[in-house]
Amino acid sequence: MSRYWSKVVQGLTPYVPGEQPKLANLVKLNTNESPYGPSKRVLDALRAEVGDTLRLYPDPVSDKLCAAIARHHGVKPENVFVGNGSDEVLAHVFLGLLKHDAPVLFPDITYSFYPVYCGLYGINYELVPLTENFEIDVGDYLRANGGVIFPNPNAPTGRLVPVAEIERLLKANTGSVVVIDEAYVDFGGESCMPLINKYPQLLVTHTLSKSRALAGLRVGYATGHPDLIEALNRVKDSFNSYPLDRFAQAGATAAMEDNAYFTAMCRKVIDSKARLVDEMRGAGFEVLPSAANFIFARYPGRDGADIAGKLRDRSIIVRHFRNPPRISPYMRITIGTDEQCARLVEALREIVAAP
Ligand SMILES: Cc1ncc(COP(=O)(O)O)c(C=O)c1O
Repeated sequence: MSRYWSKVVQGLTPYVPGEQPKLANLVKLNTNESPYGPSKRVLDALRAEVGDTLRLYPDPVSDKLCAAIARHHGVKPENVFVGNGSDEVLAHVFLGLLKHDAPVLFPDITYSFYPVYCGLYGINYELVPLTENFEIDVGDYLRANGGVIFPNPNAPTGRLVPVAEIERLLKANTGSVVVIDEAYVDFGGESCMPLINKYPQLLVTHTLSKSRALAGLRVGYATGHPDLIEALNRVKDSFNSYPLDRFAQAGATAAMEDNAYFTAMCRKVIDSKARLVDEMRGAGFEVLPSAANFIFARYPGRDGADIAGKLRDRSIIVRHFRNPPRISPYMRITIGTDEQCARLVEALREIVAAP
């Protein structure tokens, strides 16, 4: 605390990102990155950007990238907004579309950045409890609100809401924006993006950090009705007109255009997940059904923090959340390569065998 801090900063509770340890030979399963590198076409596109043009500002509206995203999803470029990671896109969404008198609704167990944006922008919110099975019941959101947001699949649980249920919510909730954060949808979910043409209050966000293996490049996007996109552009141009540098735009465009690589990598992760879930269940773990590139698991009668600590002693890091207490028995484990998953299972068997 310093007397030079503004009142806003004094009152902030910032988000704590998963750690990025600088240790060699680590099995890093804590931040839901891809275990595989980006496509070769992305690396070529990045190399091609090194040159004299770096003295010039990048395209402020990322035209080529928006067009590539629009082509991939079968929407129009005017339906697309891009930002420096979907975190930045979400920040603009909270300020531009979710800050109203009525509270924003989101699950009590979800992406922990949402309440942080509310704190930053002074947005009123209400937490909606997940069901007993850690599911989102859209029926719980059918009440007065200033907006609704949740990830689908949800994080950190991995559980999926069917598109038909999202449509039920959209039919009932026409007076405020509904944001579906599809950061993990490519690993086993169905996207509700086709609904943006039918529901002008629907905004769908995606990231290139997970299924496109580009967490280091920082690119995310939102799709929705042009009126929603205009709100985001108004916020962006009141904050930073050039959120995506030349590398990010070139690399992300190449990634969106390499569908074969994208599909193959998602398939590999989905197959590894199925094998890991089987093995962990075989070893006595309870694993929630997951449509994401991570699983949420616990061992009956054992503490999640304790197991995570013992994994760490073996150079394997997973994510553990102490709060809310209901999820503290669980660990969120990113799907790694098959070799990493094998090391994990071996370590878990050892840990639970010891009292
Ligand atoms: C649910 C969810 N949404 C959004 C993000 C942000 O992704 P990024 O800022 O890397 O695009 C994350 C990152 O872990 C996430 O878990």
